[in-house]
Amino acid sequence: MSQENQNILSASEWMTKLYHHLLRYTKDGKEGYQYFKERGIADETIDAFQLGFAPNIKDFTAEFLTKKGFHQQLLVKAGLLSVNEDNTADDRFRGRVIFPIRNHLGKTVAFGGRTVANQEPKYLNSPESELFQKGKLLYNFDLAKKHIRKQSEAVLFEGYMDVISAYQAGVKNAVATLGTSLTEAQAQLLRRYVDTVIICYDADAAGTEAAYKASVTLQKAGCHVKIANLQENMDPDDYISEYGSETFRREVIQSSLTFTSFYMRYLKKDFNLSLEADRIQYIENVLEYIATIDSPVEREYYLNEISQAYHVSMESLQQEIQVHREKMG
Ligand code: GTP
Ligand code: MN
Ligand code: MN
Ligand code: MN
Ligand code: MN
Repeated sequence: MSQENQNILSASEWMTKLYHHLLRYTKDGKEGYQYFKERGIADETIDAFQLGFAPNIKDFTAEFLTKKGFHQQLLVKAGLLSVNEDNTADDRFRGRVIFPIRNHLGKTVAFGGRTVANQEPKYLNSPESELFQKGKLLYNFDLAKKHIRKQSEAVLFEGYMDVISAYQAGVKNAVATLGTSLTEAQAQLLRRYVDTVIICYDADAAGTEAAYKASVTLQKAGCHVKIANLQENMDPDDYISEYGSETFRREVIQSSLTFTSFYMRYLKKDFNLSLEADRIQYIENVLEYIATIDSPVEREYYLNEISQAYHVSMESLQQEIQVHREKMG
């Protein structure tokens, strides 16, 4: 690794410790501490994730790190400072709780900062660099790895807070993408450790669409996919706050849907099922997918569901599947 990158890691390490210390033990960080307390995050969890607080001071980081001998230019490269129009540089993270983003070796390579005062943007991340490539890294992979390996299963979330709440709720094989779609590289990383990935995205339209896309990417990489059973318009962290850890584990994670069940539901978005023509078209589309399933038992299971829900005989469903399978060769 280049000397410069080593220095960047070292600066990031100092700031991880300082932001965390501030939040945990000082008056200047109380706002951040209070914020996590209001969101139900225990001290132990704050420590495990090294959560911190960046005060609303424009030269807090620069002050501290230049005294330690780091050059301003390096701090800009590290993403800790951002350059103004007049070429001066100020702290990037101000008045935000801090989520250190660790690589798979547990080294902080970037930060996410969430506003505690409803400012825009809600989350601010370090810029990408040689050390921090969003599409290659999963949040919390370093802590989750041993649990992922042991269970041969990972749970994939959308947000930092979802991972942290899930971890605190006993779902320790929890990782997240960093505000982007799941990439092939991330899917392959997971595949090396697991058979199955449970996708636990926000239960809104955007989350559902993203869950479908992530499923496709994961299946291409050779993972089995399940979809967590979250209710309408909640995110995992909301759910845990509302219903508690045990209910979350039992009703959401352990009650995950198969990809096929999820997909049968997902396909409905394109149809108005109160119309007969749409219903038939919907069933056609579902059958096209079911025909790709290799296990006859599995096929029959889902056909049975359709048969009952839409009052179509098993015989005609089976016939249609046969036609599709013959076409597939
Ligand atoms: P909370 O409001 O703190 O519970 O956050 P959330 O995780 O529920 O946020 P949301 O579902 O809106 O977004 C999921 C993830 O997308 C976040 O954890 C961030 O990584 C990312 N994200 C959300 N908003 C922004 C933003 O304004 N800018 C950037 N860069 N990323 C964001
Ligand atoms: Mn969302
Ligand atoms: Mn969310
Ligand atoms: Mn949330
Ligand atoms: Mn057909």
